[in-house]
Amino acid sequence: MNRLKGKVAVITGAGSGIGRISAQTFAREGAQVVVTDLYAASAEEVARSINEAGGSALALKVDVGVEADLKHMIDSTIDHFGRIDVLFNNAVSKNPATARDVDFIDFNEALFHTNMRVNVLGGVLACKWALPHMLAQGSGSIIFTSSTSSIAGEVAQFSYGASKAAVNWYTQTIAATFGKRGVRCNAILPGVIRTPALEGWANEAMTQAFLDIQNVPRLGEPEDIAAMALFLASDESAYVNGALMRVDGGMSCATPMVPVVRAWL
Ligand SMILES: NC(=O)c1ccc[n+]([C@@H]2O[C@H](COP(=O)([O-])OP(=O)(O)OC[C@H]3O[C@@H](n4cnc5c(N)ncnc54)[C@H](O)[C@@H]3O)[C@@H](O)[C@H]2O)c1
Repeated sequence: MNRLKGKVAVITGAGSGIGRISAQTFAREGAQVVVTDLYAASAEEVARSINEAGGSALALKVDVGVEADLKHMIDSTIDHFGRIDVLFNNAVSKNPATARDVDFIDFNEALFHTNMRVNVLGGVLACKWALPHMLAQGSGSIIFTSSTSSIAGEVAQFSYGASKAAVNWYTQTIAATFGKRGVRCNAILPGVIRTPALEGWANEAMTQAFLDIQNVPRLGEPEDIAAMALFLASDESAYVNGALMRVDGGMSCATPMVPVVRAWL
């Protein structure tokens, strides 16, 4: 309790999955939370759950692909709560084409631009509007949700991983640019997390197969990512800046041969 007492946190894509659980977790730890999502109804539902539990939340409809929405998000946060301590850039493009982006030869250029616009620029421009307030305070924690897809090659989703690799670069660049002035920036690289986004592209057989490549007994839950986000949002992580935190059940800690060898043991 109270690990975020006195802090104001803004979360994008907070109407579902990782963002939703993070908003509720931050609020339980004493933060005032601005719950934003492309879908007003889901943002309002999450904010209501927080307020009914005795917390303090404001819901906003924000399309992170639209800079005017991002400016409005930060302005509203300052108007309503007077400050911004945590910016959690978590929204991800939800284009139906994302689920079947499997033919590199038929490269989907429009999808590439959408992923870059929402997944990368959405967070970068949110930082642009939040940073002046954080720098004036001399403190702030920015968090991006990246992905393990950012750290190696893929055989599908030819823009998603690229967008997350760009997220990693901006995370480290923002960390280096503003760290001396008290603003930290870190990224979380989730593995396979049971959220609506995962259910949107992986069938049950794939999901079970993903378990085989993890080096823990279970798949990830949104709470696993929210726990890392809470740490990065709090002052407990004051010495952590520019880190790319893998929260992936050990998926990326071993050679790809491990599941094969384990089956042979
Ligand atoms: N679930 C996983 O296995 C997994 C793995 C690696 C990374 N991630 C990352 O975690 C983050 C959260 O994903 P999730 O699994 O919770 O997904 P989710 O689909 O449950 O939630 C994503 C939210 O983003 C919102 N959104 C979509 N487009 C938006 C826009 N333009 N503006 C604002 N909000 C928008 C959606 O409405 C939704 O509420 C994403 O950045 C995703 O890339 C997830």
